[in-house]
Amino acid sequence: MCGIIGYCGQEQAPALLLRGLKDLEYRGYDSAGLSVFAPTGLQIVKTAGRVADVEEKWDRQKPKGDIFCGIGHTRWATHGAPTERNAHPHRAGQVCIVHNGIIENADSLRAEFAAKGYPLLSDTDSEILAVLLDAAYARTGEALSAIRYARSRVVGSYACAALFSDQRDVVYAFRKDSPLIAAKTQIGNFLASDFFAVSRYGDRYMIPEEDEVVVLTKEELLICKENGERVVKPVYTVQPDSRDTGKGIFEHYMLKEIFDAPDAVRKTCEAYMRDGLPDFQAFDTQNLRFQASRIGIVACGTALNAGKLGRYFFETFAGLPVFCEIASEFRYYTPPLLPGDLLIFITQSGETADTLAAMREAKKQGVPTLAVVNTPNSAAAREADCVLYTHAGTETAVASTKAYIAQTALLYMLANEIAARKGRLTQAAVRENMRQLDSRLPVGMANILADCGTIQALSDVYCADNASCFFIGRGADYDLAEESALKLKEVSYIHCEAYAAGELKHGTIALIAPHVPVVAIASGERTYEKTVSNLREVRARGARVLLVTDRNPSAELATIADDVYTIPLRGDLFALCAAVFFQLFAYYGALRRGCDVDKPRNLAKSVTVE
Ligand code: M6R
Repeated sequence: MCGIIGYCGQEQAPALLLRGLKDLEYRGYDSAGLSVFAPTGLQIVKTAGRVADVEEKWDRQKPKGDIFCGIGHTRWATHGAPTERNAHPHRAGQVCIVHNGIIENADSLRAEFAAKGYPLLSDTDSEILAVLLDAAYARTGEALSAIRYARSRVVGSYACAALFSDQRDVVYAFRKDSPLIAAKTQIGNFLASDFFAVSRYGDRYMIPEEDEVVVLTKEELLICKENGERVVKPVYTVQPDSRDTGKGIFEHYMLKEIFDAPDAVRKTCEAYMRDGLPDFQAFDTQNLRFQASRIGIVACGTALNAGKLGRYFFETFAGLPVFCEIASEFRYYTPPLLPGDLLIFITQSGETADTLAAMREAKKQGVPTLAVVNTPNSAAAREADCVLYTHAGTETAVASTKAYIAQTALLYMLANEIAARKGRLTQAAVRENMRQLDSRLPVGMANILADCGTIQALSDVYCADNASCFFIGRGADYDLAEESALKLKEVSYIHCEAYAAGELKHGTIALIAPHVPVVAIASGERTYEKTVSNLREVRARGARVLLVTDRNPSAELATIADDVYTIPLRGDLFALCAAVFFQLFAYYGALRRGCDVDKPRNLAKSVTVE
């Protein structure tokens, strides 16, 4: 999603802005630009394409002299094509802006201002912010009242940074429902959509509220109310494990982050385990966990898939009824909520717009909310009644991998603790489950990682020339099938579908023709044989079948499946372990097909618009 940076200080602004934009690239974008106070006045450079293209263009056009202040932007197109004219910054009269979010009433505002004779130069919703600010600034000459006016006219979400041409070396910024941080550092003052853009200069930052304005000058970082009254803000410190540590020896972030999986499990266990048993002291604050008679899990994408596996754990261990809901559905079609419900919101970034909106809806209805979050001090962490952090460390690749592992590990621990409190599992059983999680699982994962050559060879066979791929499984294997299909499709662009194995014959089996790849996941005692029967059904129709399983298959089955990969970890943790296999499978599939693994087309790391 769009990224924003603003700077004012003693250093040369263009280089810092470009560096910051590169650090924001991981969010996903299709055009970029910057605007600075050049000696001759406001100057804008922007282009469709990469930050490197903006840099090249800037190098060709840069004026002589020092430049100490400016704003920059990476755009992920929502309104209007990813072209230079739609790239940010946008200028209207005396005002230049960058914007992250969606202005929902932009069409009517554009019509209103076009009728008044304002030239509109782009197809974006964002440009109207510049127009509104300029219109008000022309009347009052006061930035704060212009911001107040713009805010009063727009509906939607925004983090917006603005330059006023006659206020040299000052940046203003304000937000609603979109992330924005401000940081005072040794080399000057910054604002950004997240702290990665500035973390190389310091580790402390502030978060402006929705009725506040950030003002950056060379000397000062001021956060104030719209009437100018200064506000004293809490200062957050970036956690050591939430710094971007780079790709290290790995070719891509995605690969590095898959290799981080055992560590993500260990660190998450370390945080919530005492003396070999789960311990969620923080969660006790509201006594939420023991009162819940039903759990709702709400999230998007991979986080939702982690929740689905969590549902399996809560139901199996604790006997709690659980429903899982897509956040973008929940926010508008909220299912009837009952007294005794606990809603768990899972999010790696903690800034996903749909998940946040769903959480706000739950809070409005008075239902207790628990956030499972990977990013410290993110909006979800701040807004939920209670937060449990996963300790996966920074995840940079767009495809979520180690965060999924940490989320599922945390839910596994929580389900065990609730089960123990409810007397459904003995302490000895929980202790054994924790031992498996803490020690056997990371070892199992490490074995898979060490076998990445075999997985690459398998992936080559299934991904090289195929246009589609089906994943089938039952129970927790089906939950994993859903995540595995999402992983492969988002990075390799292969059309992937996951089906509950028994559901296939109710329609989808019509798509199974000779050589169509089907990945069957079969583990556990309850439905292993059933999934194997479904495997036979697709094999009988000529599908090419890869069986991923927790045991050595019978001699007969070994001849029926084209390929078999055995992960010798029996029990409820199989899915967590096998997830690493499927992450590697997707990674190598994307690599084989020449895709941009870390930044798949059209995708953004942090989906901050709905
Ligand atoms: O930051 P979040 O966990 O809230 O993000 C949710 C989804 O947008 C995210 O998991 C997305 O599906 C990833 N591309 C999956 O790899």
